[in-house]
Amino acid sequence: MNRIYEEISRLKKERDAIILAHNYQPPLIQEIADYTGDSLELAIAAKKAENKVIVLCGVMFMAETAKLLNPERTVLIPSPDAGCPLASFLTPDIIRQARERYPSAPVVVYINSTAACKAAADITCTSGNAVAVVRSLSEDTILFGPDANLAGYVQKQIPEKTIVPIPPDGHCYVHTRFTVADIQHARSRGGAIICHPECPEDIQNRSDHIASSGGMTRITQDNGPWHIFTERDMAYRLRTLHPGIVFYGYEDAVCDDMKKITLTKLLACLKENKTEVIVPEPYIKPAREAIEKMLALCR
Ligand code: 13P
Ligand code: SF4
Repeated sequence: MNRIYEEISRLKKERDAIILAHNYQPPLIQEIADYTGDSLELAIAAKKAENKVIVLCGVMFMAETAKLLNPERTVLIPSPDAGCPLASFLTPDIIRQARERYPSAPVVVYINSTAACKAAADITCTSGNAVAVVRSLSEDTILFGPDANLAGYVQKQIPEKTIVPIPPDGHCYVHTRFTVADIQHARSRGGAIICHPECPEDIQNRSDHIASSGGMTRITQDNGPWHIFTERDMAYRLRTLHPGIVFYGYEDAVCDDMKKITLTKLLACLKENKTEVIVPEPYIKPAREAIEKMLALCR
């Protein structure tokens, strides 16, 4: 293990690379990353990066976002087949049809979407700023995709607007695996429950807090124990950040695509420059604008 860590560190220096990892990455990747965060924090870190190479340990939409925000850098993803099944629920065609039905409604797409969908949208959002993004829009009706549970969460925070989920049933299989019985079990053990807004409404309604994975790192600094209703390795991240606090994670809440990133692939990625992220030319400008509009709101 130490050999592979040493080799990755050596190549990282040699190539002037920075390793950015999502909070759901396997522990061994979190350990070697220069920066670990949620999708908004990763986008901001990628935009600021001055290194020649950005290695994004996460799923493809995160790597594409890094490339869009910092096009001068070489952006690598160690496993180019690491996708996001939630992102696949939305297509530019669905956006076009929704616009035909609601001609004056702006389209907000979750950052968990393809570059083609971002290019077809008015603005992006992440789970950490979805409410702020929707609030910033003057229109009363908003088209929002692809996550219907996040759309429902935003609707609850902003009842004065109408949020139309596109498609109506977009969801993440990792977050929709939680049941009310899981909540009851957590309650029987004591402590507080925090869930991701991609969880279904019945889980959101029974949780003490709802937050992005980055929000979870801030909310859980004290007290505990905490029951973490999101991807399994978020609990590892929280235990590392807040030693001494008890975190209960869910062993079977696993994002298979996040786990496609391994140390062996990370090493090969730095050694052989694979795989470089290339966003198709027609999407670059409009997709970047949709993300930049969102980032302007965070400043
Ligand atoms: P966060 O932005 O909260 O990290 O969420 C990303 C994600 O893919 C959740 O499943
Ligand atoms: Fe996509 Fe769900 Fe994996 Fe997040 S946890 S990357 S939403 S499949």
